[in-house]
Amino acid sequence: MDTKTSPTKFMIFLLFSYLHLKTHVSLATDAITADQSFSGDETIVSSGGVFELGFFKPGKLPNYYVGMWYYKRVVTVKTIVWVANRKQPVSDRFTSVLRIIDSNLVLVDETKSLVWSTNVTSTTTSGSATSIQAVLLDNGNLVLRVGSNSSLLPLWQSFDHPAHTWLAGSKIGFNNVTKQTQKLTSWKNSEDPAPGLYSLELDPNGSNSYILLWNSSRQYWTSGSWDEHNRIFSLIPEMRLNYIYNCSYVTNENESYFTYALNDPKKISQAVMHFSGQIQQLTWSETSKQWILFWSQPRKQCEVYGLCGAFSTCNATSLPSCSCLKGFEPKLLGDWNLNDHAGGCSRITGLQCGNATSLNGTQVTQDQFQEMTRMTLSENDQYAEVGSIMECESICLNHCSCTAYSYESGGCSIWNGDLLHLQQLEASDTNGRTMYIRLAASEFENPPKSSNKGSEGHTDDKWSLVIAIISATAGFLTIIFGYFLWKKTLGKRREHRRRTINSSNLGARDGNDDTELPLIGLKSILAATNNFSEANKLGEGGFGPVYKGIFPDNQEVAIKRLSTKSGQGHQEFVNELKLIAKLQHRNLVRLLGCCNEEEEMILIYEYMPNRSLDKFLFDPSEQTKLDWDRRFRIIEGIAQGVLYIHKYSRLKIIHRDLKASNILLDGAMNPRVSDFGMAKIFELNQIEANTNRVVGTYGYMSPEYARYGHFSEKLDVFSFGVLLLEIVTGKKNGAFYHFEHSLTLAGWAWKLWKENRGMEVIDASVRETCRPHEALRCIHVGFLCVQEAPADRPTMSAVIHMLQSNEATSLPHSKEPAFSIHDMNSNVAESSSQTSTSACSKNAFTISLPEAR
Ligand SMILES: *[C@@H]1O[C@H](CO)[C@@H](O)[C@H](O)[C@H]1NC(C)=O
Ligand SMILES: *[C@@H]1O[C@H](CO)[C@@H](O)[C@H](O)[C@H]1NC(C)=O
Ligand SMILES: *[C@@H]1O[C@H](CO)[C@@H](O)[C@H](O)[C@H]1NC(C)=O
Ligand SMILES: *[C@@H]1O[C@H](CO)[C@@H](O)[C@H](O)[C@H]1NC(C)=O
Ligand SMILES: *[C@@H]1O[C@H](CO)[C@@H](O)[C@H](O)[C@H]1NC(C)=O
Ligand SMILES: *[C@@H]1O[C@H](CO)[C@@H](O)[C@H](O)[C@H]1NC(C)=O
Ligand SMILES: *[C@@H]1O[C@H](CO)[C@@H](O)[C@H](O)[C@H]1NC(C)=O
Ligand SMILES: *[C@@H]1O[C@H](CO)[C@@H](O)[C@H](O)[C@H]1NC(C)=O
Ligand SMILES: *[C@@H]1O[C@H](CO)[C@@H](O)[C@H](O)[C@H]1NC(C)=O
Ligand SMILES: *[C@@H]1O[C@H](CO)[C@@H](O)[C@H](O)[C@H]1NC(C)=O
Repeated sequence: MDTKTSPTKFMIFLLFSYLHLKTHVSLATDAITADQSFSGDETIVSSGGVFELGFFKPGKLPNYYVGMWYYKRVVTVKTIVWVANRKQPVSDRFTSVLRIIDSNLVLVDETKSLVWSTNVTSTTTSGSATSIQAVLLDNGNLVLRVGSNSSLLPLWQSFDHPAHTWLAGSKIGFNNVTKQTQKLTSWKNSEDPAPGLYSLELDPNGSNSYILLWNSSRQYWTSGSWDEHNRIFSLIPEMRLNYIYNCSYVTNENESYFTYALNDPKKISQAVMHFSGQIQQLTWSETSKQWILFWSQPRKQCEVYGLCGAFSTCNATSLPSCSCLKGFEPKLLGDWNLNDHAGGCSRITGLQCGNATSLNGTQVTQDQFQEMTRMTLSENDQYAEVGSIMECESICLNHCSCTAYSYESGGCSIWNGDLLHLQQLEASDTNGRTMYIRLAASEFENPPKSSNKGSEGHTDDKWSLVIAIISATAGFLTIIFGYFLWKKTLGKRREHRRRTINSSNLGARDGNDDTELPLIGLKSILAATNNFSEANKLGEGGFGPVYKGIFPDNQEVAIKRLSTKSGQGHQEFVNELKLIAKLQHRNLVRLLGCCNEEEEMILIYEYMPNRSLDKFLFDPSEQTKLDWDRRFRIIEGIAQGVLYIHKYSRLKIIHRDLKASNILLDGAMNPRVSDFGMAKIFELNQIEANTNRVVGTYGYMSPEYARYGHFSEKLDVFSFGVLLLEIVTGKKNGAFYHFEHSLTLAGWAWKLWKENRGMEVIDASVRETCRPHEALRCIHVGFLCVQEAPADRPTMSAVIHMLQSNEATSLPHSKEPAFSIHDMNSNVAESSSQTSTSACSKNAFTISLPEAR
């Protein structure tokens, strides 16, 4: 008997010690109970392992906060979603303690003073105080309650006190009974969770919209009112594409709030009030292990009120967007360098203001004014009718507090104190006014000294040194790199290549005739574009402005200047471009050269005289230039171009941003796909990483890409389908909210198609003259391309085959396209009989769709 039991006992002993060990290592608990305290590196993890709570340190300073983040197995990038002691950090996490005292969860620091408390006053000591515990739930709610009965109302919950993140299931609104509001407040900057200037709240005036406020007072954006029928906000039409979450609005005599639920509870998605003043909806991509930006509002960074602080202007196309006015420098340099510009700028030289003589009796000149053209004027001006601009100026000069004036046809506006929310508009924009900013006279005396000081943040000795080292290193790398290139190509010297740009145009770096991708000197580019003059600007592409350039031998090129500040990744950048330059097809825009000097990344392409397809397609006066034959050829050409990058080129490329504005037209109106490979370069170089931009364009994005960030060739097929429908209908999918009863162009077309009114889908300007079977076949192929499931979409080679086939009957039947539900409510009813609760909302978008036969 004994011989039998002892191994069993031993096993049990082993098992227990293992369990014991395990609990000690990970503190695998989801609650803090009354007899526990919590400090240092201890954490609690919600029972399903979704969220974790503990001390964290957001920046370089030894400031610790108690915060909540996604458990590392769920989201691999540490993402803080809630902070308890936002305003008051502790400096030592080991001696600070989080524990339950007097029915409250409190944080006390090393000196035993109270730092933070849940502040519950009504001690409903129905249960004994010892049964109170704080439990971290899987939805990210930290709940203080009596005992473990989850159906009792909590004494306190973090969902009632959100920080900057709006998690699914929590509310944004206010409670009329407790007078509590739930709002999101941004962090001050990326390293300081203290409440910043920006907040998202429910409009307290009772309109059912949510609004963004600056400093709790100035509204700078509204979602527009909630449309209960379509379940969208009137000013966020892209929400219609939303199968990620389901937003709902609740209002009764006790409370009003918005909340949302994730349609797929396994997905991770959150709304964040970013410290840049934008509200962002982010979804975690399991495949790319990063947050994907679903939408952000306001769309333009410069629309965020007071973003740049006082005496600073916002420029949408530069990074960082804020720069101090002439004569000013950042007030809080540390914050400024963390992109927290709210502190604004302060004068380098104080104003004289009425002091005719200075202390030592010398005569000094009066303050003067710096002219700034094309400005959007600051608010809070005082207005007076005057006879002339001189009069306006002297009014300002005679008031010591006046900092600026502006004059227009008899009206004089003057501003006192801080100037906020300034923006200088682009040269083409005529809405701006000229503003005169008051500066000390000395600012005008030796302009080279101080005029640029404020504009690029600051340039003190330390920075000059860093910059010098960086440029020296870059120069050195360039030489090494150039040497290896030269060595590598020496062997195949005799191999002759037709040069598109002859060598007289090339800068000093391109001493090598055999490089496959010519590196063009910045000097030649500046000469060719007249120093990037406005007159040469062709437009603003997705990745930066595009200029027309003319090289000395009269060769016309298009020059794309990538918006980037980082000179990093030089080698990968050039390597990637070399691969792209090898892609040559009659339906692709050819890359002719590049330049990577002085922080510039510039691409040189063939020049396309007829600009892009959207300029023709969506402009009623130009539309007629595209007769049916031409449209059909354009469709085929695009398909060939995309097939080439997918299949026949040496490196497979998924375009990811196929759209009408990326289809250029050459002299003979042949389509040329542009911007292919940019997504790759974009990722490689983190161009404009700060803007968190998604590669891709709403309306052209396939569901799986928008939802999960998954992309394959079928993403391009989807975008191609949208583009094809746009070409046939002459209607822009981006403006889908104009299609009364449908969400998308495809949905609208499908509705007519099912009613056998396919001909009405075709653009009226070609309806009479087209070959109907061909146009209808195009529409049919379009439907097949925009199917919800990638597997249901054809490949590009199948698309080409179908377009060219003459057999009317040979096409597979199409199911209803993705994103095209026209009346959600009627469809929801059909699927509601299903038992699953979590999948119900998803059904509304997909499963209940009828199959057209
Ligand atoms: C708790 O209440 C006190 C007094 O009402 C207040 O001063 C303190 O700011 C509150 N603390 C928190 C964290 O709400
Ligand atoms: C939890 O509380 C509810 C409501 O007060 C009660 O009906 C239920 O019996 C309680 N459950 C347990 C396990 O105590
Ligand atoms: C609420 O309405 C009042 C009066 O219409 C207006 O002055 C105020 O700005 C509004 N507040 C907000 C936050 O919209
Ligand atoms: C925000 O408002 C408060 C008063 O409401 C004011 O004291 C403070 O200066 C404002 N902050 C800024 C940056 O203007
Ligand atoms: C809040 O309560 C007051 C009076 O109790 C009522 O007049 C008001 O309409 C309520 N507000 C909302 C949004 O229900
Ligand atoms: C509002 O609060 C009262 C008192 O707590 C409650 O009786 C009533 O049911 C609540 N109304 C709604 C719609 O929840
Ligand atoms: C904005 O910045 C861009 C890029 O730095 C620059 O080219 C442009 O001139 C600036 N616009 C204004 C109005 O200053
Ligand atoms: C004007 O001069 C007086 C001393 O003469 C000085 O105290 C004052 O600050 C000056 N005013 C300004 C605006 O510099
Ligand atoms: C006195 O005047 C001289 C030149 O006139 C000037 O350089 C100096 O800065 C002045 N000193 C003070 C204290 O203003
Ligand atoms: C969205 O949520 C609301 C309330 O949470 C629910 O009534 C509705 O059925 C949901 N809609 C869909 C499409 O899931």
